[in-house]
Amino acid sequence: MVIQQHKSLKEYNTFGIAAKAKYFCEINTIEDLKSALNLSQYPNKFILSGGSNMLITKDIDALVLHINLKGIEIVAENKDRATIKVMAGENWHEMVLWTLSKDFGGLENMSLIPGNTGTAPIQNIGAYGVELKDCFVSCEAMNIATQEITTFSKEACKFGYRDSFFKNKGKGQYVITSVNFNLTKRNHTLNTGYGAIETELANQKIDKPTIKDVSNAVIAIRKSKLPDPKELGNSGSFFKNPIIDKENFKSFNEKNPEAPFYKISEDAYKIPAGWLIEQCGYKGKRFGDAGVHKNQALVLVNYANATGEDILKLAGEIMASVKSKFDITISPEVNIIK
Ligand code: EPU
Repeated sequence: MVIQQHKSLKEYNTFGIAAKAKYFCEINTIEDLKSALNLSQYPNKFILSGGSNMLITKDIDALVLHINLKGIEIVAENKDRATIKVMAGENWHEMVLWTLSKDFGGLENMSLIPGNTGTAPIQNIGAYGVELKDCFVSCEAMNIATQEITTFSKEACKFGYRDSFFKNKGKGQYVITSVNFNLTKRNHTLNTGYGAIETELANQKIDKPTIKDVSNAVIAIRKSKLPDPKELGNSGSFFKNPIIDKENFKSFNEKNPEAPFYKISEDAYKIPAGWLIEQCGYKGKRFGDAGVHKNQALVLVNYANATGEDILKLAGEIMASVKSKFDITISPEVNIIK
């Protein structure tokens, strides 16, 4: 295992922030991971995967372990369903395309989400009406302190909206090494209820969509709204959509009858943060090299050389503006590394 020093992380985070790692190594096997976690001369370790859900605000004074564990295999199947095991370093979207090439259904609505498979459970990624938890069976994770590998069931992961055990009690304690998904082999359940998918399929004149058609529709929608991190640094949705209670919703809705919302239970309403931010006038605005994307106000972007601090400052201003205009608190979805 080669330990590099003062390594630029610009290529390793989708925001394209040019922070440095004091020490850096590639983790290609489970053995590499065990050995690296055991290196006592580097007491601080930092786990880096696809770098798609983080904002690095300063140089990282630690040994950065870049998780590059690869492999996808079918571990069980019958005529109706297949269970696949995906190693953590597999790129999420390439893995979704692999499942579609086998005609395995379940992940198609989550096409083109950036990042790697191993970090997907941490925030229970989701898009267009489907969340990771809907196909998730279990994951294996190494305990950073003991290097023991444990299997976490779906229940143990305690998934919520962009949330899991790994963001709460388990935070900073585990490295997810692989994830198992259960997928359909026939009689696929199509989730086309999300408005934009139906519109896109209709535009393409597809009335009996396959899972591949749904994936292509999602890819088209995402490309029209969300910037490609290879072209414009970003981390997808920077904020979570806020959830407010019935009483707050009632007064919000009276004042803003045109605002979109999703009722998620009797006492909980989700309001799109993108709409709130747009109403505050930030959509498409640029401040130096930090900005708010022109097609989706939930996405903050790095035009070239913004620092993590620049993005964080803009995020703070947006949060304050939403709070003052709507009395709603929005909070970051991305992991802020301070
Ligand atoms: N909207 C605006 N202005 C904007 C953006 C959105 O008015 O600038 C309105 C839209 O018109 C629509 C509503 O807000 O009525 C919802 O917009 P959209 O369908 O684009 O979804 P979202 O709630 O903004 C969430 C996820 C995305 C995911 C999409 C589609 C979160 C934080 N974000 O965004 O996830 O792709 O739904 O399912 O839940 C991500 O997490 O990185 C991500 C991109």
